[in-house]
Amino acid sequence: MKKTILITGANAGIGLTTAEEFVKEGHHVILACRNLEKAEQAKQHLQSIGTGQVDLVQLDLNSLEKVSLAADEVLSKYSHIDVLVNNAGLISQNLDITEDGFEKHFGVNFLGHFLWTLKLLPIVKKSVQGRIIHLSSIGHWGGSIQPEKFLAKNNKHYIMFPSYGSSKLQNLLFSNLLATQLEGSNVTSNALHPGAVDSELYRQLPKFQYAFVSLVLIPPSKPANLIKRMALDEDWATKNGEYASVQTPAWASKKSKDLKLAQYLYDLSYDLVKTYL
Ligand SMILES: NC(=O)c1ccc[n+]([C@@H]2O[C@H](COP(=O)([O-])OP(=O)(O)OC[C@H]3O[C@@H](n4cnc5c(N)ncnc54)[C@H](OP(=O)(O)O)[C@@H]3O)[C@@H](O)[C@H]2O)c1
Repeated sequence: MKKTILITGANAGIGLTTAEEFVKEGHHVILACRNLEKAEQAKQHLQSIGTGQVDLVQLDLNSLEKVSLAADEVLSKYSHIDVLVNNAGLISQNLDITEDGFEKHFGVNFLGHFLWTLKLLPIVKKSVQGRIIHLSSIGHWGGSIQPEKFLAKNNKHYIMFPSYGSSKLQNLLFSNLLATQLEGSNVTSNALHPGAVDSELYRQLPKFQYAFVSLVLIPPSKPANLIKRMALDEDWATKNGEYASVQTPAWASKKSKDLKLAQYLYDLSYDLVKTYL
C-alpha cells in the first residue's frame, strides 16, 4: 500500500536521499523545507526518478510561529500522514540565535520539531499505522539538559559539539517519552543515529575538522535505507521507543533512557511552545 510520508529538511543530504527511496517505490512524499528554490529542484529531481507524488511545504524551524503555520498547512491539506521523519538539522560553529531567542541547536534541531510533532500528531493518528522517526545522533552521548542554556543570550561559553549533542539528546529523550505516551495507540516513535554521513551538515566546519571527520563518512544511502525500513517494514510496525544505528552499535546513553529527565524536558518545552499549539 502506498504511504504518505512527510520529511523535514528533505532538499539535501539524508532527507533527500531518503525521499528518493520512497518515490522510487511510488509513495507520496511531502518535502518540508525552508528553502523553496532548493526544494523545487529536489522535487523535480525526485519526479524524474520515481512515480510517487511529490509535494512541498515551506517549513522554517528557526521560528515557532512559522513552524506552527507550516503545520497548519499540512493539517488543512492532507487527511492523514503515515510517516513523519523529523530529519532537518544543523551544526553551528558559532553561537547562533533563532527568531524566538533560543540557541540554534536547541531551537531548530529540537524545539521546532517538538512543536511540529505535537501539532501533527492528530493527523499521524489518522493513519492506519503511523510512525514517527527522529534523527538523533551518537553525539547525544556528549549532550546534557541545561535549561539555563536554552536561550542563546545565556550561553556565555559556547562550544559547538556539546551544544549540538544536547539537541540530539533532546531528540532522543523526546522520541522515548513520546513512545511511552503512544503505547497502545496506532502510532510508534523511534529514533536513529544515521552514522557519520557525507552530507551538507559539515559545511560550516573548519577545513582541518572536516578533513578529520571526512575519513569516516558514509554515503547518505546507508541511513536512507535504515529509515526506509523503519518507515515501511513489517518488522518495525510494533517497535516503539527503539534507538537504531548505522555504522556503530546502537548504544543509547543512560541519560537518554531516563524517562524522568525526558518528562522534565517535555514539560519545559511544552511551556515554551504552548501558545503556538
Ligand atoms: N551527517 C551526519 O553525519 C549526521 C550524523 C548524525 C546525525 N545527523 C542528523 O541527520 C539529520 C540530517 O542531516 P544531514 O547530514 O542530511 O544534513 P544536511 O545535508 O545539512 O541537511 C540538513 C537539512 O536540514 C535543513 N534545515 C536546516 N536548518 C533548517 C531550518 N531552520 N528549517 C528547516 N530546515 C532546516 C537543511 O535545509 P537547507 O538546505 O535550507 O539548509 C537541509 O535540508 C540532522 O538532524 C542531523 O543532526 C547527521
